[in-house]
Amino acid sequence: MSNPLSKDVQKHAAAEHALRFLTPGEVVGVGSGSTVGFFIAALSKRAVDFPKAVSSSERSSGLLRSAGIQVLDLNDAGPIGVYVDGADEVDPNLALIKGGGGALTREKIIAQASRRFVCIVDESKQVPVLGTFPLPVEVIPMARSLVARELAAIGATVIERAGFVTDNGNVILDAARLRITDPLALEAQINQWPGVVTVGLFARRRPDVLLVAGPGGVAETVV
Ligand code: 5RP
Repeated sequence: MSNPLSKDVQKHAAAEHALRFLTPGEVVGVGSGSTVGFFIAALSKRAVDFPKAVSSSERSSGLLRSAGIQVLDLNDAGPIGVYVDGADEVDPNLALIKGGGGALTREKIIAQASRRFVCIVDESKQVPVLGTFPLPVEVIPMARSLVARELAAIGATVIERAGFVTDNGNVILDAARLRITDPLALEAQINQWPGVVTVGLFARRRPDVLLVAGPGGVAETVV
């Protein structure tokens, strides 16, 4: 098992590697989380080549602006070439759990708006079956109890993320103890429930490129 320091070294390596997939001058789609923090640091050294970005969270927007990179509204940016983001779990078919940082809705929007989704992870994120990491679900506040009951009915142990409000003003329910063998079907099912804004399953819009950093370097899977 890797210690936190080597995990950070791996996150850094995956983030640096992602620069290879960018085209200078294009607006960059930027995700959220600690791995993306390393990516923004790498991007900041190339701000001349990549002066503009769209961002999936207020936190990433702040980091980008501090790095001298202009943050555009997605509506003004047109289609995005490449979106770079991390993940909480990746299964062998490249379906993801995302939303550990609570930014899943904007992440899913930018992933969908992008030609290529490059996912950057350390090797600890690879799992045979999704669900060890509790599945985040962004919910309109008045539907919190309703959606919690629906999640419990499919076998989840549900915990509301304490004291957390998303950038969109909603709450997050974390659904633990699900064994997600059909992520595409579960994503479609949960997305239909009234009150659900977004489920943190990325099975419909999977990464086109997966970069997994391990002790031996960064492994590329290009779909
Ligand atoms: C945020 C996310 C992140 O990509 C995910 O939580 C991974 O984070 P980290 O890079 O810190 O491990 O989905 O909503």
